[in-house]
Amino acid sequence: MAVPPAKLPLPELAAMKRRGERIVMVTAYDAPGARFAEDAGVDVILVGDTAAMVVLGHAGTTPVTMDEMLFLTRTVTRAARRPIVIGDMPFGSYQVSDEDAVRNAIRFVKEADVDAVKLEGAGPSASRARAIVEAGVPVMGHVGLTPQSATMLGGFKTQGRSAEAARELVQGALVLQDAGCFAIVLEAVPAPVAAEITHRLEVPTIGIGAGPGCDGQVLVYHDLLGMSEGHLPRFVKRYANLSREIRDALEHYVHDVRAGVFPEEQHTYAMPEDELVRFSGDKGPEREHERG
Ligand code: KIV
Repeated sequence: MAVPPAKLPLPELAAMKRRGERIVMVTAYDAPGARFAEDAGVDVILVGDTAAMVVLGHAGTTPVTMDEMLFLTRTVTRAARRPIVIGDMPFGSYQVSDEDAVRNAIRFVKEADVDAVKLEGAGPSASRARAIVEAGVPVMGHVGLTPQSATMLGGFKTQGRSAEAARELVQGALVLQDAGCFAIVLEAVPAPVAAEITHRLEVPTIGIGAGPGCDGQVLVYHDLLGMSEGHLPRFVKRYANLSREIRDALEHYVHDVRAGVFPEEQHTYAMPEDELVRFSGDKGPEREHERG
């Protein structure tokens, strides 16, 4: 029997940073996505609260609930063996108090079997991160564009473009490292600022729209596969155009059913001839015409 691959140990991420090996992270929201990511060699899978938008059809990330995140996360942890799986704490699950944050982080571990959780922001989030780490759950931080507070930030905008704002980002990342975060996502920040943060931190940085100077990169599954339609941020690279493929396939299927060319013989089950004769004999007289 094939031995399942061993889980990537969490400290390996810091070791990869020290060795200069880039860390690959992607989001996933279901078991097939987790399997595809694992088979491609992804190191870290984030069950992001972007699920609210790319899976659940909301306009932003704030509506997704703990129960919805736990449901999606379980589908990923059931399938992923080697990659570290991180549950993204949804808006409202950690903002109120450290106690709330710890309780919900523990739900991610006990009910969805995650290896770690992620939360957004520095400031009060640093205290939440520290409390969760002290409870024994590893935490990934996230600074720069933090979509849960996009309204407060003036929309989905690049952060840290002035010297002062850049210094605040560096400070925020250092505070999160000090709080015990094992890695920090840098989203939509100028490349030189991300490179400086990466240089100043011992823990790895994972960039999304933060340039090549980060220790790793993350993209949203639906964006990189071309399943998100409409406007995409400039930092997205599409590696496939699956929405086109899916639309073409569905249109083809609709055509085939309507035209009566699907199913064909090869998609159809036969039955032994003698059983067919007996079965046909069972048909009532009112259906005689069907046999011709
Ligand atoms: O929720 C998410 O998908 C994220 C990534 C964009 C880092 O936070």
